[in-house]
Amino acid sequence: MPHIKLLSLVGARPQIIKASAISRAIRTSFTEDITEILVHTGQHYDKELSDVFFDELEIPEPDFNLGVGSAGHGKQTAMMITGIEEVLISEKPDCVVVYGDTNSTLAGSLAASKLHFPVIHIEAGLRSFNKTMPEELNRIISDHSSTLLFAPTNSAFKNLVHEGFRPENSPPYSIDNPKIYLTGDIMYDNSLFFAELAEKKKNKFLDRLSVDRNNFVLATIHRDINTDDITRLQNILVTLKNLSESCNITLVMPLHPRTIISLKTKLNSLYNELCDSRLIKIIPPVSYLEMILLEKNCKMIVTDSGGVQKESHFFRKPSIVLRKETEWIELVNNRTSVLVDADPDLLRDEFLRLMDSHSELEYPGFYGDGKAAEFILKEILLLFEK
Ligand code: UD1
Ligand code: UDP
Repeated sequence: MPHIKLLSLVGARPQIIKASAISRAIRTSFTEDITEILVHTGQHYDKELSDVFFDELEIPEPDFNLGVGSAGHGKQTAMMITGIEEVLISEKPDCVVVYGDTNSTLAGSLAASKLHFPVIHIEAGLRSFNKTMPEELNRIISDHSSTLLFAPTNSAFKNLVHEGFRPENSPPYSIDNPKIYLTGDIMYDNSLFFAELAEKKKNKFLDRLSVDRNNFVLATIHRDINTDDITRLQNILVTLKNLSESCNITLVMPLHPRTIISLKTKLNSLYNELCDSRLIKIIPPVSYLEMILLEKNCKMIVTDSGGVQKESHFFRKPSIVLRKETEWIELVNNRTSVLVDADPDLLRDEFLRLMDSHSELEYPGFYGDGKAAEFILKEILLLFEK
């Protein structure tokens, strides 16, 4: 087996978490075969959205941080492509691994494929079928620039087949003859690996937060449709505030800075009311181990996050999703996730229903066996076997 140089590209919070699964698998099983170079675009730069994960998940510091920061889609993506190109030219990796669907994913896929470096897309094939989402365009373009595509679910794999990817093609694989795989989900690998560690390392966290196990609701909101559309944000938060009061249940909300900025600048009096409420705890983004504890110990989850929606299933909690559609369709079919968009009536009905009882729900294993990262790395190595 040849030794390869694998460039792993991260930028936003969930990508650092995903990359930790691959990095850990390289360190435990593939040090003889793979040298990893970690590149951070700098899309997320606040300590709570970036550094905290490197420390906690024991990932090496990035070899390169492009320091791109926040900007409009065009400028941000262009700066990333420019920086990634320079690293690719100097480092000459054998392949470039991109994760998920952010602007960093798009920039990595475009920069690498145009310079003829094979792109490996982890979390391929996810579709919302809503091209007004920036992430949907990022996914489609990344998938169609890739040589190896690792789909985490059956539905993601089928989406790729519907877009013309052939499930049975033969090597040598290339951007024009790509290979698609059904792998399971590296986020599930992480949840299994870190769940126990979270209880051990953060055993005081829930006490410090003054919440009782199984007696609080966890909510996250960060998606542009909800943070930038003030009517939606207001509808969601006023409804959640009323529900927490009428049900007398604590609501824990680790909020993305984007949401806080919108609240402070456009809904300041509502923001003050929420901060004054006895039952509402708006807190800064938490670390991954803290998030796992919140997810494991809450009663239910309200979110617009893809990652948090899935983790709710991993930890056997129902989720109410503040979107019209989801890429994780198996959860909706299974009724462990319900879509309520930003509709106050739907949100209230589903919240009350799930507060009452959800003991009949089942949580089948849609996301593999917890060893997706090892499988992916073995297949990447085969790409380079002579
Ligand atoms: C990005 C991804 C989204 C993903 C999310 C994960 C895109 C288009 N979107 O959304 O798919 O679900 O990350 O969290 O790539 N900001 C800070 N500090 C930071 C980073 C951002 O305050 O460290 C604020 C800035 O005001 C910035 C805004 O958040 O303008 C949005 O950041 P950006 O990275 O563009 O998108 P996210 O909403 O984080
Ligand atoms: N997460 C975290 N702290 C938080 C909120 C989320 O560690 O305060 C983790 C969460 O457990 C999941 C990932 O971040 O693993 C999801 O990222 P996010 O919601 O930002 O983006 P999405 O998954 O929607 O792209």
